[in-house]
Amino acid sequence: MGTLIDGKAMAGQIQAEVALGVQALCAEGHRPPGLAAVLVGEDPASQVYVRNKHKACQGAGLRSEIFRLPADCPREQLLGLVDLLNADPSWDGILVQLPLPAHLDEQEVIERIQPHKDVDGFHPVNAGRVLAGLPGAFSPATPAGVQEMLKRSGISVAGAHVVIVGRSNIVGKPMASLLVQKGEGADATVTVCHSRTRNLPEICRQADILVAAIGRARFITADMVKEGAVVVDVGINRVEDPSAPKGSRLVGDVDFEGVAPRCSAITPVPGGVGPMTIAMLLRNTLDSARRRSRPLGGRV
Ligand code: GUN
Repeated sequence: MGTLIDGKAMAGQIQAEVALGVQALCAEGHRPPGLAAVLVGEDPASQVYVRNKHKACQGAGLRSEIFRLPADCPREQLLGLVDLLNADPSWDGILVQLPLPAHLDEQEVIERIQPHKDVDGFHPVNAGRVLAGLPGAFSPATPAGVQEMLKRSGISVAGAHVVIVGRSNIVGKPMASLLVQKGEGADATVTVCHSRTRNLPEICRQADILVAAIGRARFITADMVKEGAVVVDVGINRVEDPSAPKGSRLVGDVDFEGVAPRCSAITPVPGGVGPMTIAMLLRNTLDSARRRSRPLGGRV
């Protein structure tokens, strides 16, 4: 088996770096960066994610608050809360946890957040700026975390063929945007595959670096991976497991046991991309606060 990429340890390092950045900002007389998290309804996974983000903020010295709304909250109530958070200068970042209940229009809510507070990087202004390679955009935390993991593991993506399986706006598409750019940590040749892709196993086998973000448990099997490839597993799927204490456990989009022996490096689930996502969100929030503290030097 190749190297196991320890996302948890790396995320710990990044959070320590963010904590130092927060201290430096406060030493200049600024308030700590603030992240407002909005949670609509009681989806169990979303509750865990938001709680973990909140705890990580507290650990790194950021101010964070969770704004909870009922699952049946009217559209106007959610948009009204976003407007209040937009207008409140004490919040540097706003995140509305997805997915939202079916009666709410996610795109409308995303576009309501001011782009300069959109630390999730989901607003079309940020998505467009990332694709165009413009400075000052917030990169979505998950693909930014994957890029950072590769960088810190000493895995060069320049000139490599990166195959991304999954085309979501949260992971697949921004992952391609980041890696295809000119510059450090990028310069890759990128292929994006999805449910309509023909010959998927064959394309995956061409990958020097394979990024799995499909949302289907153990979808990537050993026959889809080239010997010596790097495999990054973005999936978090709960599967039944009678031997586990809760009767279920988390697995990725990669069949880890089958694939790991073929790889030069692989990320585990849990403890891989997940913790990196949170670390990158904190970094985006710190960056937002820094820009706000230097309005003439910063860019929206
Ligand atoms: N749901 C799944 N991933 C994310 C994320 O990164 N941010 C938000 N807001 N919701 C999500």
